[in-house]
Amino acid sequence: MSARTLPTRHLGELEVSPLGLGCMGMSFAYGAPDRDESLATLHQAIDSGVTLLDTADMYGTGHNEELLAEVLRTRRDEVQVATKFGIRTDPDTGMPIGQDGSPAYAAAAVNASLRRLGVDTIDLYYLHRVDPRVPIEETVGVMATMVGEGKVRQIGLSEASADTLRRAHAVHPISAVQSEWSICSRDIEESVVPAARELGVGLVPYSPLGRGLLTGSAAAAHDLADDDFRRTLPRWQAENLAANLALVGQIRAVAEEAGAAPAQVALAWLLAQGPDVVPIPGTKRRRYLAENLGALAVTLTPDQLGRLGRLRAAGERYPDMAWVRGDSAAAR
Ligand SMILES: NC(=O)c1ccc[n+]([C@@H]2O[C@H](COP(=O)([O-])OP(=O)(O)OC[C@H]3O[C@@H](n4cnc5c(N)ncnc54)[C@H](OP(=O)(O)O)[C@@H]3O)[C@@H](O)[C@H]2O)c1
Repeated sequence: MSARTLPTRHLGELEVSPLGLGCMGMSFAYGAPDRDESLATLHQAIDSGVTLLDTADMYGTGHNEELLAEVLRTRRDEVQVATKFGIRTDPDTGMPIGQDGSPAYAAAAVNASLRRLGVDTIDLYYLHRVDPRVPIEETVGVMATMVGEGKVRQIGLSEASADTLRRAHAVHPISAVQSEWSICSRDIEESVVPAARELGVGLVPYSPLGRGLLTGSAAAAHDLADDDFRRTLPRWQAENLAANLALVGQIRAVAEEAGAAPAQVALAWLLAQGPDVVPIPGTKRRRYLAENLGALAVTLTPDQLGRLGRLRAAGERYPDMAWVRGDSAAAR
């Protein structure tokens, strides 16, 4: 079956579909993995014209990259693969324990990702978190050598501040900055988004559905599996949940007006923020994937965009693990 073609957007020099597929939940964080449904979802995404697959070495400590390899074996030419390095995980639990942006760690990480993915080149290689112990110039310097060696095509940063982005871009062009951005996570709008636009760096919003919160599908902590990462997040705690459910109610109201699903409204709002924005909604299910791609046909009115833009979530994005929020308050 030949894939449908979608319009494209640019992340620096990389031309990609306007929505990517976030693959993290297929291996990590949001309940039990389902290998067969995940593989079917990956194939359906490519058949539907999605070209950007987002993974990281730490998602399931390599499991997620190995899962993508099963699809890349036959469909490498149809997609751009984005992966990340720079977060060390606990070997026993697989949980993140801190950043490592050292050149030695980066050099080993890229070879391990290439091997797990079964590819010769990574299309977009991100530093997952900036390491405050290593000047960004050093980390991006070693990433630039990977480009020279043909191991990596484009370089990205995740959760970087505007200042870090500028310093990194001075060493080697940065194609994309990936940070949490959605109706409920707005921090990057103040300084990261303007800096990215000034430099011509593309914007990749992660958790664009607020980790499921904005869809209403992951509304109550007691409905989540015992090991679901969201149980630890402030927005799912009792003191914040009522306010956040009221926010979901506002999104539902706009969705009803627009004849769309809440997830589609959340994605359409992000897509309307500019042609340089490529959200990567995450799912391991074909039916959610199909619904999310329907956002490309949803146009919100200026009034609806304005109402959605005034909503604010209760609670921080992450629990009190300062390093995980990135390298500045602006990226919090
Ligand atoms: N750079 C970083 O630090 C970072 C951090 C987090 C994530 N990411 C990347 O960003 C991607 C997306 O973020 P995310 O997965 O955290 O959050 P998300 O895309 O905001 O939400 C994912 C959650 O929403 C559910 N969902 C998806 N579509 C839905 C729909 N149409 N209706 C109802 N529920 C729906 C998913 O359910 P199912 O799981 O049941 O399908 C999953 O629980 C990740 O996969 C990962 O690649 C990067």
